Amino acid sequence: MSAKIISGTEVAKTIREELAAEIAELKAKHNVVPGLVTILVGENPASQSYVAAKNKTAHALGIHSEQVTLPADTSEADLLKIVEKYNKDPKINGILVQLPLPKHINETKVLYTIDPEKDVDGFHPVNVGKMVLGEQCYLPCTPHGILELLKRSGVKTSGAEVVVIGRSNIVGKPIANLMLQKRDAGDATVTLCHTRTKDLAAHCKRADIIIAAVGVPKMVTADMVKDGAVIIDVGVNRIGMSESGKAILAGDVDYDAVKEKASFITPVPGGVGPMTITMLMKNTVQAAKQAAGLI
Ligand code: GUN
Repeated sequence: MSAKIISGTEVAKTIREELAAEIAELKAKHNVVPGLVTILVGENPASQSYVAAKNKTAHALGIHSEQVTLPADTSEADLLKIVEKYNKDPKINGILVQLPLPKHINETKVLYTIDPEKDVDGFHPVNVGKMVLGEQCYLPCTPHGILELLKRSGVKTSGAEVVVIGRSNIVGKPIANLMLQKRDAGDATVTLCHTRTKDLAAHCKRADIIIAAVGVPKMVTADMVKDGAVIIDVGVNRIGMSESGKAILAGDVDYDAVKEKASFITPVPGGVGPMTITMLMKNTVQAAKQAAGLI
């Protein structure tokens, strides 16, 4: 069997069209323009390209977007002041501080300073807590994107054995939690594997759905995958540079071999990546509607 490709690019395009229409209506009917600020500290090339893509998408959808680029030696106190300024700015509904931050800045302190109402990343403990309780909140963008991909591809998750590989706060922990909840793309039996898991292959082999978010290129190989499994690859690993100077990317899954066994698979690039940015836009629109008292 060769797997059906779940195109994040296509699904993201559909959601962006829905969002563009909603944003136009917000402006026409309520004079509301959603606003997003991205804050980048330092010169990490991957972060630079993510932030540029976030701003470009925001602009294309009619979201007011501001970009703050700070040198790597920016002090924690200065960064906190900037966050506090945007907490008070009525034009801005969403604040995104791109991670990772330079080592001398306490990431937790920065994330805790963002007003939870403007935390469109869903990283503030208030939003994390609400997410775990299944309450209305901003869902973190990558897990939110994975749920949409599963839902819109018609993948049945109720009762499914899901193996998540990777226990990060951004992907592994939240997607594991969301998929065990009573919700769309939920009701699964979830196993969360990580670097100390004893026999990763044994867990993977019995999984109906594997979500790989480890940051190790091609770590999930065909012998670890059950026939007909659904494979969601969150990895974006830079494995080289093309002659034209573009990064060559590989996922956490050995795509060419695994796609011959899986029923559905996401490619890298063009799978989960475009969804992360799109869900950030969705959260920003949600924030603007909340601020305007429309929801
Ligand atoms: N770094 C990697 N992924 C993310 C994300 O979703 N949000 C932020 N702020 N930083 C990231």
